[in-house]
Formats: sequence, C-alpha cells, structure tokens
Amino acid sequence: MISMDYNYDFIKACHGKPVSRTPVWLMRQAGRYLPQYRKIREKVAFLELCKTPELAAEVTLQPVDVLGVDAAILFSDILVPIESMGQRLHYSPAPVLEPPVRSAADVDALRVLQPEQDVPFVLDTIRLLRRELEGRVPLIGFGGAPFTLACYMVEGAGSRHFLALKRLMYQAPEVYARLMEKITDTSIVYLRAQAEAGAQALQIFDSWGGILSPADYQRHVLPYSRRLLTSLGDLGIPLIHFVKGAGAMLDLVSMAGGQVIGLDWSIGLNRARMILGENVAVQGNLDPAVLLGRQDVIEREVRRILDENAGRPGHIFNLGHGILPQVPPENAAFLVDCVHRLS
Ligand code: CP3
Repeated sequence: MISMDYNYDFIKACHGKPVSRTPVWLMRQAGRYLPQYRKIREKVAFLELCKTPELAAEVTLQPVDVLGVDAAILFSDILVPIESMGQRLHYSPAPVLEPPVRSAADVDALRVLQPEQDVPFVLDTIRLLRRELEGRVPLIGFGGAPFTLACYMVEGAGSRHFLALKRLMYQAPEVYARLMEKITDTSIVYLRAQAEAGAQALQIFDSWGGILSPADYQRHVLPYSRRLLTSLGDLGIPLIHFVKGAGAMLDLVSMAGGQVIGLDWSIGLNRARMILGENVAVQGNLDPAVLLGRQDVIEREVRRILDENAGRPGHIFNLGHGILPQVPPENAAFLVDCVHRLS
C-alpha cells in the first residue's frame, strides 16, 4: 500500500521528493462555501452528516470533483471523538461541549476512546472513501492536537482568549496535565485507527497552539504533541503538524514532530524553511481572505508563494487556515488551477 501511495504528488511532496507539479488541497475544503454541501445540510444536521458514512463520503468527494485538489480529507470534525470521552456535543452552529471540564473529578470521569466501538462511522467512512478514491487522490485523516481539544473541552465552546483553559493551566497545572495525558491517549488510538482503516496521511490541527508564549508552548503543549506524533511514527505514513499562529516558534513546533509542518500566513515560506531545515516539508500558506479578492490578485499571491519556495521539493500548497464560508467556489477552483499551471 505504502509503495503505491508514492505515485501521488501529494505523498511525494510530504516525503520531500520531486513532483510533476505542486500538489494543493485546502483546509476545510468540504463545507459551507460549496452549494453542493449546503444542499445536503438543508436536510441533515452537521453531526448526523459526520455519523452517516455514505453522506460523509459524498461531501468529502465534493471538493475533489469541483476543485480538482490533489488530496481528499475525511469529512468529520476534531470534536467528534470528544463526545465518546463523555462530554455532550452539539453544534448551533458553533460547537458546544457540556459539561465543561474544570476539576480533577471532571478529568477522571472522562473515558479513553475505543475507536471500533465508539466511532465506527469514522472508520467506515474511510473504508468507503478508499474504494471510491482508488487511483484518483490520496485520503488524509485528521484529529485535533491535544491542546486545541483541551481548549474546547475546558471552555465548553469556542472562545476568543480561552481564559478558562489558561486559568486551569496556571492554577491547577497537575489537573491540566492529567487532562492532556488523557486526550493524548485518546488521540493516539483514534488516529492509529484512522490509518489502519486506510487514511494515507494524518494531519494534526493545533488551531489554538499559537495563543501561548513560546515558553508555555514548550512546557504545556509540546510534550503532548510530541508523544502523539512519536507514537504514530511506526505507521509509516506522512504526519502533517499544523499549529496556527506559530510563526514565531516553528523551531518548537518542529521539535514536537511531523514530516510536514503546516504554516499560516504570519511567516514567509523562505524564512520558515530557514528555521525548519532540509528534512521537513512545508504546507501552506495563503491567507484564506485572499480568496475573497480578484482573480488577478489570487494569481499574484500564488506566484509569490511559489517564488518564495523557489522550486525546493517538499512543498504542498494550502491556505494558512480553513477556507471561509464566504468564498466564491469559482475562486477556490481558480486557485487550484493557478497552483497547477504556475508550478
Ligand atoms: O477540511 C475538511 O473539509 C474536513 C472537515 C473538517 C471540519 N472541521 C468540518 C466542519 C475539519 C478538518 C475540521 C477541523 C476543525 N473543526 C478545526 C481545526 C481547523 C480550524 O479551522 O481551526 C476546528 C477548530 C474545529 C471545530 C469546529 N467545527 C468549529 C469551531 C465549528 C463551527 C464554526 C466553523 O468554523 O464552521 C465546526 C463546525 C464544522 N466543522 C463545519 C464543518 C464543515 C460547519 C458545520 C456546518 O455545516 O454548519
């Protein structure tokens, strides 16, 4: 299986090997900006969509068909496994987790996930997709990084500053650490199960890792992300480590691991690669808001990013964060075409 995967430019780029043209996919590429997605969502709630393999597979394929991207990403959400740990989850439309985790007793009450039993629909979606995607594009599985999952679990929802999480971290570091260990244990079995079901690469989303100082990232995030990534090393598939807002601490992100480091737009590819060195690939890093602009501006920005990479192997083109719901689909398709045409 692994040797077959080498036929894909996306997998080659993850391993730093030469490609015929720069592979491109977009974080959150299945979603509300696509009328085809909204049509399905008129009839089915988001969580139900995630739990229905035929429908989850269908929306996973939409951006592959509509945009011509070089990889598919499983349709699910980073918070799906948290429900099985024992918090109630609903979307309205932003996620809410109840009750929030605040005390040692709350942490002790959480269970570690058993993937085949708790999230069979995720594994069935992957198996279904592998059959449908064979010979087309590879399939990326994903999970939240322990820190980003802890942010939602402690806060009980999204937040601007995640002060409940920070309060726990600074007031009860031993409770915080116990929570992080438990989430890491869950993430290891969850991502391993995705790979065993057929995911050909795995991406770790640390959407909130950048809200901490580098020193606190090193103390309170890095050890857990490193344990997660190290534990998945024997799978032999590319691991992509994306930490939003981490331009000023890429050395630490890279110490935590990943063959591919995801970049947001706060750092240029050239500088990032100086910090990261030869042995890791990079993924990124167009500001998602550029897709709201004119097509000549999109083309100029694609050219700039490709120029910053200067033809070095090991670049996967992507946005620096998820695609915005307001983006015209034709601009997303234009972006993919630009990357292929100009690389
Ligand atoms: O990339 C893909 O196309 C795969 C699907 C995917 C979703 N969420 C589907 C989704 C992925 C990879 C995610 C990851 C995710 N989910 C992250 C990390 C990436 C990031 O954007 O920072 C985070 C933080 C979440 C948590 C989450 N899920 C939030 C905050 C929200 C609501 C607000 C929002 O951004 O949409 C969701 C809901 C969600 N997850 C939707 C989708 C398509 C929208 C649900 C709808 O149809 O109403």
